[in-house]
Amino acid sequence: MPLVDMKDMLQHAYQHGYAVGAFEVVSLDFLDGIMLAAEQARAPVILSMAESHFEYFDFDLIMPAVEAAAKRALVPVAIHFDHGTCIETAVNGINRGCNGVLVDASHEEFMENIRITRQVVETAHACGVAVEGELGYVPGVEGEGAEHYPGELAYTSLAEARAYVERTEVDFLAISIGTVHGHMKGKPKLDYQRLKQINDALDLPLVIHGGSGLSDDQFHRLISNGVAKINCFTALSDAVAKQIRKNIKIEISSGYIGLAKNINHAVAAEVERCMRLWGSAGRAAEVLARCESWTSVEQIIICTVEGLDNSDASILMNEGRRMLSSIPGVRDVFSGEAVQKDARYHYTWRIRLCHPVVVDSYRKHAAYINFINKLFRPVAGKCINIDFQEVTPVSSQYQLEPVIRRKVMS
Ligand code: 13P
Repeated sequence: MPLVDMKDMLQHAYQHGYAVGAFEVVSLDFLDGIMLAAEQARAPVILSMAESHFEYFDFDLIMPAVEAAAKRALVPVAIHFDHGTCIETAVNGINRGCNGVLVDASHEEFMENIRITRQVVETAHACGVAVEGELGYVPGVEGEGAEHYPGELAYTSLAEARAYVERTEVDFLAISIGTVHGHMKGKPKLDYQRLKQINDALDLPLVIHGGSGLSDDQFHRLISNGVAKINCFTALSDAVAKQIRKNIKIEISSGYIGLAKNINHAVAAEVERCMRLWGSAGRAAEVLARCESWTSVEQIIICTVEGLDNSDASILMNEGRRMLSSIPGVRDVFSGEAVQKDARYHYTWRIRLCHPVVVDSYRKHAAYINFINKLFRPVAGKCINIDFQEVTPVSSQYQLEPVIRRKVMS
């Protein structure tokens, strides 16, 4: 169960002078490759789900696999919702299993960026989820060339960074100091002085977007000035494209399986290189020992209802599921009827919340109060209603020996 609190994970990196890679997942091959590398390097890792890529895959379909990979991992993992466009998609990200979010309002006016981000912080923190804010503008498109950059780079100002963090209360700040998303146009020139001033003033883990194509020295200088999370996609995308081109030459008459050979290992090689360069390799055990596990809560309601026939009871059960599912932090709602007709309780709802912190905001949410007061209480008979927190193994129960789950295909 090494899903861990993302705020704890990045605080550890920040305090110990290394950066955790947030690698974008766009397919199961990417997921597999990133996890292979993290386990091989014994590194904490962030699986990053960028909303800008949801047109290429179905986010709701891939998230169960992402979560399963994180849960069976031998290293600490966090799942980040990257470049969200609005609070609604970020809440969907949280309800699907992300424990860190960024709603990117960096293209908006300063005050509007603060307003949007503050709203995200209030909702996400009530779910126990960490929030990244972005200030200044990092142009470009992940995985694309320089000619696709929409707009000019805008550097993060120190004064604005101070005010932004104070007013929004974000947990991490993504700053713009010269990087771009995608392939660089010319040689990147990074403003280390600006970075140092921001880091000295904020004392908060900083985030770099556009973490592909920098030199080893540039990465070291970023990390020694407070960068604790580096986002990376283009370098992985390039490694995969190279592998596919190689496959096309070798596998002349192959179909999909032949052409997709070793994509996961191409991803793994680049991710492992980054982990060793950014100093996260070998840190898994410390991070597991120091970070809170990311545990869910199940609210179990078992009850009888009075004065309803079977079809009205079904309507009540379905309505409960619909209303409760919409609440931020609700992962899943199961509504059920007793299989044994003579059971003492006939009906149940089992509501999975993403984190113990949610219990409070969930029970105060208008949808919960409406459902309980208007629909359920008037017909409720006997009822048991208890919240259960997941029991997790202590960190010493994880083996942190490197594992190779699969052999390289040849
Ligand atoms: P690159 O695609 O340039 O690596 O940037 C990724 C990124 O910043 C995602 O947020």
